[in-house]
Amino acid sequence: MPINPWRSLPPHRSLGVYTEHGLTPTLLREFISSARQAGCIEIYDPFVGSGVVVTYAQETCMASAGADSNPWSLLLSRAKTLPLDWHALKSWAEDARMLVNSLKPLVPSPRLARYHDAKTLEDLGRLRALVEEAPEEWRPLLLAVLARVAYKWSRLRRTPAPRFREGVTRSAGSVYADFFRLLGEAVKELESRRFCGPVALFQADSSSWMPRRVCGVVTSPPFANNIDYVRHTMLELLWSGLARSSEDLGRLRSAQVPACEAAARSWKPLSTRPWLVELVSRVGGSRAVGFRRFLLQYFRAMETHFSLLSEALEWEAWYTVGDSVLGGAYIPTHELLAKLAEESGLKAQIKPLGPRMKPGRTIYLLRLTPRR
Ligand SMILES: C[S@@+](CC[C@H](N)C(=O)[O-])C[C@H]1O[C@@H](n2cnc3c(N)ncnc32)[C@H](O)[C@@H]1O
Repeated sequence: MPINPWRSLPPHRSLGVYTEHGLTPTLLREFISSARQAGCIEIYDPFVGSGVVVTYAQETCMASAGADSNPWSLLLSRAKTLPLDWHALKSWAEDARMLVNSLKPLVPSPRLARYHDAKTLEDLGRLRALVEEAPEEWRPLLLAVLARVAYKWSRLRRTPAPRFREGVTRSAGSVYADFFRLLGEAVKELESRRFCGPVALFQADSSSWMPRRVCGVVTSPPFANNIDYVRHTMLELLWSGLARSSEDLGRLRSAQVPACEAAARSWKPLSTRPWLVELVSRVGGSRAVGFRRFLLQYFRAMETHFSLLSEALEWEAWYTVGDSVLGGAYIPTHELLAKLAEESGLKAQIKPLGPRMKPGRTIYLLRLTPRR
């Protein structure tokens, strides 16, 4: 089984999917079928990311809701789950192709000049102006496509975190041609989807908010492995206008469960559970202080998430979770989260699901049920 099977499946193939999260099609099929048998009419993903849960649920006619603190995740999930007038969109694209070069570039943030050469910035800016003129309903899809093209034509490369590639200039081909080709591919993939189950998406910090009642929950939360989802989607946030400055990006980082050093904040509470404090004190190396701080803030945020879950959960919650090694210490995130969930009043079971991208690491399924 490849690390992320969704990469080759529509609509994620054209619009993109977050790397490695353990929610395979088989697992989701099993979850949705068990949720139906248990009488759930809606399922919930509190960390919706690139939207595999809501898109899968929609195909199977199950109602779903998804939350994320990163507005880019919501836009991308919306682009995948909103049925549009495909015929009208295709004929608009034909005309837009002719028109785009005459538009005045719209570059939503001056920061974007760091990531593209001047000519590319101008071309992308004209495409962005085009999107602005399109019907509002089409914008999530058009922005999702624009962001993919902007990434390809940027100085950034994922390693897996985005890093500057020095000395990269314009490659062969055209920014416009790439945009209209990818838009065509995305429309083709979306046209053949079943937009059956209703999908609700909202921006929320799932460490401090949850719907009052949730029947079934299936998700992959952040893993305590120093991944900064805001950094991973920085170009996308800037081109869409969802963030315009470093202050905006900083605010979005602050809203994340602190699963990376960049999301830790002096004002965020730390877990005080002695068994966690002891484990985290084993983290060493030159970044020990930063790692320890974000880890204790991460587990504190997940603690509050689980107390909300234990109030709201009616049937079962399935979390796919990966372990990590930080500063020479093994962090069994799955076991630590299971213990926190138990202490919040839930019953927890752990099952290994398979290997992770990094050799020697495993992804686990954490299955939580209410005690009552
Ligand atoms: C592992 S990814 C989810 C991947 C997802 N299953 C998918 O289909 O791509 C974790 C997600 O949690 C989100 N997240 C981090 N902190 C959050 C918070 N406090 N509240 C809600 N979402 C948060 C991140 O923005 C990221 O999208």
